Amino acid sequence: MTNRAIINADVTKGTINKNIYGHFAEHLGRCIYEGFWVGEDSEIPNTNGIRNDVVEALKNIKIPVLRWPGGCFADEYHWKDGIGPRENRKRMVNTHWGGVIENNHFGTHEFFMLCDMLETEPYVCGNVGSGTVQEMSEWVEYMTFNGESPMANLRQENGKEEPWALTYFGVGNENWGCGGNMRPQYYADLYNRFQTYVRNYGENKIYRIAGGPNVDDYKWTDVLMRESAQHMDGLSLHYYTIPGEFWTGKGAATNFPEDEWDVTMQKAYHIQELIEKHSTIMDKYDPEKRVGLIIDEWGTWFDVEEGTNPGFLYQQNTIRDALVAGVSLNIFNDHSDRVQMANIAQTINVLQSMILTDKEKMILTPTYHVFEMYKVHQDAAKVALDITSDTFKVGEKEMPQVTASASKANDGNLNITLCNVDRANVADLTIDLRGIDVNQITGRVLTANEMDAHNTFDNPDNVKPIDFTDFQINGNELSINLPSKSVVALSVK
Ligand code: AHR
Repeated sequence: MTNRAIINADVTKGTINKNIYGHFAEHLGRCIYEGFWVGEDSEIPNTNGIRNDVVEALKNIKIPVLRWPGGCFADEYHWKDGIGPRENRKRMVNTHWGGVIENNHFGTHEFFMLCDMLETEPYVCGNVGSGTVQEMSEWVEYMTFNGESPMANLRQENGKEEPWALTYFGVGNENWGCGGNMRPQYYADLYNRFQTYVRNYGENKIYRIAGGPNVDDYKWTDVLMRESAQHMDGLSLHYYTIPGEFWTGKGAATNFPEDEWDVTMQKAYHIQELIEKHSTIMDKYDPEKRVGLIIDEWGTWFDVEEGTNPGFLYQQNTIRDALVAGVSLNIFNDHSDRVQMANIAQTINVLQSMILTDKEKMILTPTYHVFEMYKVHQDAAKVALDITSDTFKVGEKEMPQVTASASKANDGNLNITLCNVDRANVADLTIDLRGIDVNQITGRVLTANEMDAHNTFDNPDNVKPIDFTDFQINGNELSINLPSKSVVALSVK
């Protein structure tokens, strides 16, 4: 059978929020230290301590928003430890992640400097689990108050005269787990209290994000929306794609059996059901869809690479990860009426990274290339698309072979992203392109022969996008042969 789609290019369905293409950087393993931050005295080329190669690579994928400092780390982070002269900053133990020394050399000033370099919006996550209302309130004052106040004065003593602009602020992280093991009722009360003191100073208007559910904890969503919707702008959701079991064996990042490819794809698709069910609960309290669903942690999570610190969550990244990214982003685009932000975990050297580093060396992962291919969707108008895909069975469940997303950019181009999740078979797809005069179509493809094809420091370009021409246009009917295990981006002018 042939997969079929209809695209009505003249029917738009709102804007795809660019923040869906957001990222997450935690004080975990080698994400911040070694990944972003090497310090001013490093031999690795840097600007004020931040790696130049990493900044250059990330600017190319146009990171719209960056979440920091955690994750679980956020609920034991005390921001005052990370300001002032670096040599005087407190050293602490990062108890969640590897029990290593955290020297606090990367703190608030360094984070905002990084965001400036990346031209990205900061998203700061505050500490509810082990912090106080005063501590959170003072952090917001330190960052955003323009005038005479104890925290603004302290910021100025530390060399920053003007406040920073800060929109996104999270009130805790995973408060059902590492953020305090709370019941939703208890967290809702705490959320309401803490957020009261997350002030809007002057023109700075904070978008408050409440700690949301874990995976399919629908009760959490219901309680939070019932008790706190009027005090929040966003509710977070965390979901990781794990082929195996979290505690007993997640599965290997490379050299995995065929059935683990299929299960991984199936688990990636599961985010659609989660979005729809959580969103339905949110609709009950917020039919206008004012409150955004903020998927601020998502991505693959495999067993750590052998020989690395188990608390560092370092894993390789293959063409399978690329497909998980492509499928997930197509789903987020499709639900962009509710999904206002998503932050893949994590940017460098941790879980489903964009970049891996080894001292002065740096490689781009297959996932990086997907974000680069999909950046055309950022803030573009979503276009009506209906797809009927072939399905295949994984266990008892059917799953589509092909997923797609389409949007129209400001330049008038229609951009289509496609995934063929089938590890063995080409997918034939016919698209009926309506509402557009087709002059020219260009394409790129990311694919590989091996299921676990990846880039290494010795072979950094093993998996990278190349030109794609395996399509024919006949009038307005576009016939495409999608290779197995492929992500394809087409631009119709
Ligand atoms: O991304 C790694 C960890 O996963 C985060 O710290 C936590 O929020 C989640 O459980």
